[in-house]
Parts: sequence; C-alpha cells; structure tokens
Amino acid sequence: MAVLPILTYPDPRLQRVAEPVIDFGQNFQTLVDDLLATLRVSAHGVGMAATQVGVLQRLVIVDVSSKANIKHHGLQVLVNPEILDWQGFASGREGCLSVPDYIGTVIRAKKIQLKAQDRHGQWREYAMEGYEARAVQHEIDHLDGKLFLDRLVSKKRDLMLRQFI
Ligand code: NI
Repeated sequence: MAVLPILTYPDPRLQRVAEPVIDFGQNFQTLVDDLLATLRVSAHGVGMAATQVGVLQRLVIVDVSSKANIKHHGLQVLVNPEILDWQGFASGREGCLSVPDYIGTVIRAKKIQLKAQDRHGQWREYAMEGYEARAVQHEIDHLDGKLFLDRLVSKKRDLMLRQFI
C-alpha cells in the first residue's frame, strides 16, 4: 500500500473525464488500497476520487462515518458509480483535498439513489441522503472533471478561506 500524492487545483488533470473500470484485477486492487491509504492520512478527508491521484478510472471512496448524528453506509468503495435518481435540493459547505485552502457553499440534491460496483465488480444499489449523498455527488463530479469550484453560484459570496471557518 502506498500513500499517493494528491493533485491540486489548477492541475489540468483534474478536469479530465475518467474511463469506466472494466478490469478488476490485481493492478486495480492495488489502486483501491492505495486510494484508501491516501484518504486515511488526509485531514478532513471524507472521500476521494481516483482522478485526484492522477488515475482516470471511475473509482471513488467515501467514508463520512466520522461525522456525528448522520445516516451513512460506512466506508464504501464505489466503482463506475451512477446516480439513478435525485430528490430535493440543499445548500451546504464542502471542502476538497484538491482545493486545500478553501471551503465552498454548494447546492446538491438532498437524496440520491445510487448504483455502483464494489471493488470486485459486484453491483449494489444505495439510497443515500444528507451529508453522505453530498459527498458522493462531490466525488462523482471529480470523475467528470468537475470541482466544487465549478458549482459555486457566486465566487464572491460562496467561497471562503478555510482558515477563517
Ligand atoms: Ni474533492
């Protein structure tokens, strides 16, 4: 297992669209383990996409279990994730390991229905809400080359320096 360097804005590789995962072999398993190790050592990290370590494959990990009093599924490895349904809208604060100095206020769906493969290729469906749903929407954006910065309604009003939060 290796902790990988995280790309930061404005690295152009963060804007590329990731490819579907089709090979769940040893190289992919190593990538999953490396991504998990990288998230584990990152302060504030509740999720990470393979894009953030420069690998353009549709793989994200999410673990919001450190947040108090919310519904969640624990640590999840989500491969080729697809949002099937959205409900409601809520604005909330987000950070990103690729935008380390800032926090943004972003509008996301409140609830999502999600389909994803696990690290061995098995499909699963999830109903997610609140902070976990937000985190997954944020991570899937990375796979499509988007950062939370692209979703701010107003850069002046909705972007804050992390040190002032
Ligand atoms: Ni991010």
